[in-house]
Amino acid sequence: MTENIVWHEQLVTKDEQRAKNRHHSAVLYFTGLSGSGKSTIANAAARRLHDLGANTYVLDGDNVRHGLNKDLGFSDEARKENIRRIGEVAKLFVDSGQLVFTAFISPFQEDRDSVRRLVKEDEFVEVYISCPLDACEQRDPKGLYEKARAGVIPEFTGISSPYEAPVNPELILETDRFTVEECVEQLISYLREKKWVD
Ligand code: PPS
Repeated sequence: MTENIVWHEQLVTKDEQRAKNRHHSAVLYFTGLSGSGKSTIANAAARRLHDLGANTYVLDGDNVRHGLNKDLGFSDEARKENIRRIGEVAKLFVDSGQLVFTAFISPFQEDRDSVRRLVKEDEFVEVYISCPLDACEQRDPKGLYEKARAGVIPEFTGISSPYEAPVNPELILETDRFTVEECVEQLISYLREKKWVD
């Protein structure tokens, strides 16, 4: 309900924030299976960009579910609400002039498209962190696939809950073929081509 609620324009504009930061601001929207490498690549890329002088932040599924989204489980509806909130938060980061990484499984194309629509066309990059299910399952860094196969974790993505691979992502990083450093390099090259960072 937005009745009786009035929008206030900020005195410091997004363009002024960007000018001060000396780079564009946007959502770098990572999606991929559990264990595909979303958090690892997002954090490594954020580190690189930070060292290059950029203002970055990583919104990570596990972390956000400890606080803001601690009330949400893993039903389709809960995941949808998870991503809706993340989209709104990511938009605030874009307004503040930052490059914000979102590292969520985000299994549904429709929800990813909703976040895309929240911001401007040149403020959203869908990055598919691509890794076959069997490779993710072999990595199983948190032992979650084993628990999911044993039926201990219900509605586990890729096992008992669906994952829709991106239809037309701006970027695909194949973590089963390239190292973390190579994937980061591919992302930075993409951002440089767009002249979003130096
Ligand atoms: S989603 O689908 O976007 O709402 O999920 P997300 O917020 O990214 O949270 C995924 C992390 O939660 C842990 N976890 C599960 N993942 C998938 N399915 C089920 N049922 C589940 N239960 C717990 C898991 O650590 C995920 O982290 P990543 O980094 O993806 O492995």
